[in-house]
Amino acid sequence: MSLTHTQGHTGHVDFVGAGPGDPELLTLKALSAFETADVVLHDRLISDDILALAGQRAELVDVGKAGFGPSWKQDDINELLVEYTLRGKRVVRLKSGDPTVFGRLDEEIEAVEAAGMSWRIVPGITAASAAVASIGQSLTRRGRNSSVRFLTGHDMKGFADHDWAALARTGSVAAIYMGKKSARFVQGRLIMHGADRKTPVTLVENASRPDQRILSTTLDHLPSDLATAEMHGPALTFYGLAPRDAARALTEFNKELA
Ligand SMILES: C[S@@+](CC[C@H](N)C(=O)[O-])C[C@H]1O[C@@H](n2cnc3c(N)ncnc32)[C@H](O)[C@@H]1O
Repeated sequence: MSLTHTQGHTGHVDFVGAGPGDPELLTLKALSAFETADVVLHDRLISDDILALAGQRAELVDVGKAGFGPSWKQDDINELLVEYTLRGKRVVRLKSGDPTVFGRLDEEIEAVEAAGMSWRIVPGITAASAAVASIGQSLTRRGRNSSVRFLTGHDMKGFADHDWAALARTGSVAAIYMGKKSARFVQGRLIMHGADRKTPVTLVENASRPDQRILSTTLDHLPSDLATAEMHGPALTFYGLAPRDAARALTEFNKELA
């Protein structure tokens, strides 16, 4: 058994979770990784406040990837990581939220390992944790749901397939990442598998950021309410959860739309 990943070179990669955007949700370990980094390769979703902290002494390189849109190819990002480490650089690979959640982390680790470089993971607060806090709810609750699913709305092949029958059962809770474009697809699949149309669905856009917005709706009205809301920022969709004070949240959102 091996407990270290160091294989004799000076280059090193820290895969760091930037959290959902609020710099106060960065870990102390993330901050100390910034202090020793030569270069920070970051995603598109990293907030300006966090980039300001990360770029105090390191070079910032944007390798942002947009869902469905133009993007850096994963192979190019892997190559860049390896190139910097081979030059003996300390690299921070800064990913939004937690790097282990829908972050294509393994592909990058494998590239760094193949080059014989050392690496470690610095966890961050994932979007689901920040978003659920903003609606005053808990991801699991005794007597309601003893499990919670983290789903992606789309994968490399298009809209992602899931265990719809299990999700359609009363009390199911899912945190759906990248779920805006697939909202109508998800709604259709769940209803087809017997989900109650009145199941609460909540979207939290820009969780933890000053421009955070909360949309409280139902499975039945999800596509139409989402279209009306015009959410352009990253959003986390909760299936099976309403804000603790759903009525108040809805009023605030509707006021903003007016
Ligand atoms: C490629 S995934 C990366 C997830 C990230 N690793 C994490 O743990 O949060 C990007 C998706 O995460 C969600 N997301 C990231 N930051 C968010 C935020 N501040 N508010 C709401 N959703 C967010 C959105 O669903 C977005 O499309």
